[in-house]
Amino acid sequence: MKKIIAFAGSNSKTSINKQLVVYTSSLVDDVEVEVLDLNDFDLPLYGIDLENEKGIPDDAHRFLNLIKSSDGIVLSLAEHNGAYSTAFKNLFDWMSRIDGKLWSEKPMLLMATSPGARGGATVLEIAKGRFQYMGGNIVADFSFPSFGNNFSEEKIINEALHADLKEKVSVFRASL
Ligand SMILES: Cc1cc2nc3c(=O)[nH]c(=O)nc-3n(C[C@H](O)[C@H](O)[C@H](O)COP(=O)(O)O)c2cc1C
Repeated sequence: MKKIIAFAGSNSKTSINKQLVVYTSSLVDDVEVEVLDLNDFDLPLYGIDLENEKGIPDDAHRFLNLIKSSDGIVLSLAEHNGAYSTAFKNLFDWMSRIDGKLWSEKPMLLMATSPGARGGATVLEIAKGRFQYMGGNIVADFSFPSFGNNFSEEKIINEALHADLKEKVSVFRASL
């Protein structure tokens, strides 16, 4: 059976992006899903001096190995001031020091959501522009707007958005 990893680019314990990846990954047929949480990875704030003094933390290797041993990735990015959250960027930076092509060409369903009407579209565009140079293989992307209005009781309640996401999930599933 194919195995996918699913995680949010957030360290919030109530992350809306995590809620979206958990729901989205439940729509992917016939796969084993491992949901990851950035809080379970102990990563100090990246700095070149720290890296030179202490090396790269084990948990950066551990996360990268989870990517490499997966068949695909479902990722939803939190948007902080129009960019990646600090927690995600920190993980991204540490992993990039091990392997510049960290996404390892694994098929990726890349998403973003926020409480606002743009649904994290700005950070999604940043990631789409960048990941392609870092082993990224984004097969579908999805910006989910106004999370509080469109998601309730652990699922999407807006039919048009739900239909759109199901199409993206089909493309992702077929690429695994
Ligand atoms: C420091 C900070 C900056 C934020 N900047 C943005 C932003 O630029 N665009 C946006 O849509 N939401 C922004 N938000 C709101 C987040 O989208 C919201 O907190 C969301 O819940 C984050 O996703 P998460 O719950 O998965 O962590 C910001 C929140 C914080 C704390």
